Amino acid sequence: MSTAPFHEALDLLAAKLIEDERAIGVEFPYVTAPDGAWQTMPASVSAGYTGTNWSHGNWFCGFWVGLLLASYLHTRDEKFLTLARERMLLVEQRAEDGNTHDIGFIFLSSAMPFYRITGERRYRDIALRAAARLRDRLVVTRQGAYISSWGPMSDPRGRASSAIDTMANIPLLYWAATESGDASFLLAAEAHARMTDRAFTRPDLTLYHAVEYDTTSGDRLRGYTYQGLHDESPWSRGTGWSVYGLAATAGATGDSHYLSRGEIVAGKWLDQLGGAIVPPWDFADTTPDAPLDTSATAIMTAGLIDLARLHPDPAAKQKWQQTAERLLAGLCTGYLATSPEHRGLLTKGCYSKPHNIGVQSAVMFGDYFFVEALMRVTMPGAFSIHHTQLAV
Ligand code: GLY
Repeated sequence: MSTAPFHEALDLLAAKLIEDERAIGVEFPYVTAPDGAWQTMPASVSAGYTGTNWSHGNWFCGFWVGLLLASYLHTRDEKFLTLARERMLLVEQRAEDGNTHDIGFIFLSSAMPFYRITGERRYRDIALRAAARLRDRLVVTRQGAYISSWGPMSDPRGRASSAIDTMANIPLLYWAATESGDASFLLAAEAHARMTDRAFTRPDLTLYHAVEYDTTSGDRLRGYTYQGLHDESPWSRGTGWSVYGLAATAGATGDSHYLSRGEIVAGKWLDQLGGAIVPPWDFADTTPDAPLDTSATAIMTAGLIDLARLHPDPAAKQKWQQTAERLLAGLCTGYLATSPEHRGLLTKGCYSKPHNIGVQSAVMFGDYFFVEALMRVTMPGAFSIHHTQLAV
């Protein structure tokens, strides 16, 4: 398959980033408004409960840095590196944030690739500090351990909550294990992956968005959703987060069990997708005008490329790579935000339909994982960390 469309998408990204950097000030984009303009939030906004309402805060500021770094690699233009450095001064303050698992997202997309690309120890230190905070979220139960998701550990709601999204945060822990030589990072992350795979997977191979655990026994008290259609529905982005994390776990541990689980869960998602490129935001929303979620495809694609890279069987390797490239090409052909007023890279993402935030929008995490997948194809190994301490 020609990779020309992938390079063109990265060219478009680079052009848009420069335009946006002139316009957005010190805040960070997260979703586009109906008129196509970015909506922004300061990096400093943490997550938390207001009464019973949960707010994710700014969990996407690192993704913007990641996009600048990818554009630097793609263009070799130093101005992207300069902009990324300036942005990191704003993002770094979140490295001690004990309120949310999203500390993984924030720093695996910023400080981690920054260190890989520049070799500057300052970024390694930031990423290791953040990884230690993420590891602090480990809750040990009689049936295993998990990284809690939403809220400070002092809040019982925070301790008991686990979201499928956490699977895509744990690559920060795998990186930290290798980088520091401290295996407790790896043990925490693998324990989380094992418990999540067991507790989140329904008999039909779809996944819960979130689980509330009994923090002593480790029993699943309930499976529920925050952003899906209903508690038993297959929220389409969630499976992408799972496959991404299972592939990283396979690479980091060398245990082919996680590779198989990633294939099984991805296979179910692809069956639900049928011949389409982009799923509805939730597969249970079968209304004719159900909003789509391009971010689900982007995240899944990045995970599939990792499955392909790790797979020891040449036929399976080829199958996953071809599937990923077909989906990526479909995103490039049908979903790029090429009109000047529409900011962001991918149209038709869906942040949260129940909260009516970022529906039919560009969403920052969709753009980031799309670009990560493009970089995994066009410059393998240059941008994101491939977890292959042990050969699968
Ligand atoms: N918080 C991660 C997501 O919206 O998927």
